[in-house]
Amino acid sequence: MADLNINSKYKMLSGYDIPALGYGVYQTPADVAEDVTLHAFKAGYRHVDSARVYRNEQPCADAMKKCKIPRGEIFFTSKVPPRSMGYEQTKASIESSFKQTGLDYIDLYLIHAPYGGTAARNGTWLALVEAKRAGLIRSIGVSNYGVHHLDELESYIKELEGQYGKGQGGEISVGQWELHPWLTRPDIVEWCQKKGVVIEAYCPIVRGQRFEEKVLQALGEKYGKTPAQVLVRWSLQKGFVPLPKSVTHSRIEENANVYDFELTAEDMKLLHTTEYSPCAWDPTTSDD
Ligand SMILES: NC(=O)c1ccc[n+]([C@@H]2O[C@H](COP(=O)([O-])OP(=O)(O)OC[C@H]3O[C@@H](n4cnc5c(N)ncnc54)[C@H](OP(=O)(O)O)[C@@H]3O)[C@@H](O)[C@H]2O)c1
Repeated sequence: MADLNINSKYKMLSGYDIPALGYGVYQTPADVAEDVTLHAFKAGYRHVDSARVYRNEQPCADAMKKCKIPRGEIFFTSKVPPRSMGYEQTKASIESSFKQTGLDYIDLYLIHAPYGGTAARNGTWLALVEAKRAGLIRSIGVSNYGVHHLDELESYIKELEGQYGKGQGGEISVGQWELHPWLTRPDIVEWCQKKGVVIEAYCPIVRGQRFEEKVLQALGEKYGKTPAQVLVRWSLQKGFVPLPKSVTHSRIEENANVYDFELTAEDMKLLHTTEYSPCAWDPTTSDD
């Protein structure tokens, strides 16, 4: 952990690496996305978390092409829209991502949310597996899945392996959830850690809603860091891949400037809560 740095990476089950810090672009307007993504690259980020529904894949990809950093050093994620679940719709969604971005390959494609029922979820997964086999997508995974959805997917992967052979069902390389000290999702985290699934943390700074918490203020003072930096550091030290979002140049830099201090085990304990307080949506509890 002491050796965490801006270039830290984790190996995924797919065999590819993922940068340990990501740059989120939800609600980043398309007309500023290229500029702020370029700024994120300048600040040292090498990982952009986009999605079809964010409507900014194209300007993010434009920044990737303009930044002069080799493509292989940048990691780009998109996601299947919740309203495009199912085999055919997912194939169309992937095709649209390539049309819009002009990329040769996409590093990671996630199922954005588990809505739509088992058949749609399985169909979506199969389309992702096929895109991976075709070399279009390097790694695949899910977002906002509850443990029951993860178990269901694991069974489907085994079924596909039974049909097509070992390794042919795809692997859940990454799972993405809202995660911060007020939403630690121990059941999901345990599931992923057991299976080697890399865990990404969205809303890692709780959209700024908890900055006044005494514990954040105290730790910020202790290390000369902002509450946002304490939260990003907490996430990294939990072994997560935090995806802080900002369209503000100074904050983009601030959120990546978290490698000159380390929270102690005692600090981490102080930041521990058993609250379940999402600040975004929560599809993990969906029963359909
Ligand atoms: N899979 C999913 O369902 C899902 C859901 C939500 C998010 N995500 C991903 O996770 C990323 C992060 O989540 P999020 O954007 O919802 O929340 P977040 O990163 O926790 O917070 C972003 C908000 O905090 C502000 N902010 C950023 N840095 C700050 C700083 N240093 N000081 C004060 N305020 C700061 C930003 O304002 P400005 O931009 O105005 O600076 C923005 O309003 C998203 O962009 C997206 O990539 C995924």
